[in-house]
Amino acid sequence: MGILEGKKALITGIANEKSIAYGIAKAFYREGAELAFTYANEKLKSRVKEIALEFGSELVFECDVSKDEHIKSLAQEIGSAWGSLDILVHSIAFAPREEFKGGVIDTSREGFKIAMDISVYSLIALTRELLPLMEGRNGSIITLTYYGAEKVVPHYNVMGIAKAALESTVRYLAYDIAKYGHRINAISAGPVKTLAAYSITGFHLLMEHTTKVNPFGRAITIEDVGDTAVFLCSDWARAITGEVIHVDNGYHIMGVFGREEDIKKEVFGE
Ligand SMILES: NC(=O)c1ccc[n+]([C@@H]2O[C@H](COP(=O)([O-])OP(=O)(O)OC[C@H]3O[C@@H](n4cnc5c(N)ncnc54)[C@H](O)[C@@H]3O)[C@@H](O)[C@H]2O)c1
Repeated sequence: MGILEGKKALITGIANEKSIAYGIAKAFYREGAELAFTYANEKLKSRVKEIALEFGSELVFECDVSKDEHIKSLAQEIGSAWGSLDILVHSIAFAPREEFKGGVIDTSREGFKIAMDISVYSLIALTRELLPLMEGRNGSIITLTYYGAEKVVPHYNVMGIAKAALESTVRYLAYDIAKYGHRINAISAGPVKTLAAYSITGFHLLMEHTTKVNPFGRAITIEDVGDTAVFLCSDWARAITGEVIHVDNGYHIMGVFGREEDIKKEVFGE
């Protein structure tokens, strides 16, 4: 029996099979959860419907998180389909492409607003509207963040600021929802080649560097994130809330970036 058997999970943020949310859906399905999905716009509808079928689900709802009415009707639709909800996966972020070109100093007022609205406020709004459906279910919410929240990652810019706000939001929401028995955590994933990632100028460099210098010397996969998400949304993680868990092959623990043998080679040609 899977460890998410009997749980109903709403997955946001699938654009295609490379999406981190796809890896999470795959792992949840394997562990016996019932799944429902959202898509951001008409362009993504048929793809997300196909993916939902792959996971035995016909529950697919439109939800552009910049629209309050979409979030409200999503809660109603989930309510009529299921009557309750155990898990919410928030795997959504956006900033206009120009914001990833220069530095933070070039951030436009509009770009800042959009990044914060789509990538941070959406977590608050979705949590609030879906909360009534989690009543008495010890619900679990997860969101996706990145190391650029903690340290400077060139070109990540306003998204780093948004991720720092997102991680803080997780802690505040954790406090708010604890009184209902629910939990919320963030997974800080290492770089993965997804649609969103390719908006970031120099992403391939970042990817290569991170892969080379992390203690395991390999890239993370959406399956790595999926398995951690299973744990966080299972009852085994019942005492974990407000946390940011790194799924990055240990990249964030390094002070000197690189394994000794590689640094020796690079610096001394040994
Ligand atoms: N790819 C990485 O390297 C990486 C690393 C750490 C964290 N993350 C985070 O993981 C999450 C998922 O991104 P991904 O890398 O899987 O890329 P992705 O492009 O596959 O997913 C991003 C999703 O956000 C959705 N989205 C954007 N604007 C939206 C809106 N207005 N309403 C509803 N949905 C909207 C898109 O439709 C898409 O499904 C994001 O929060 C991202 O910041 C990604």
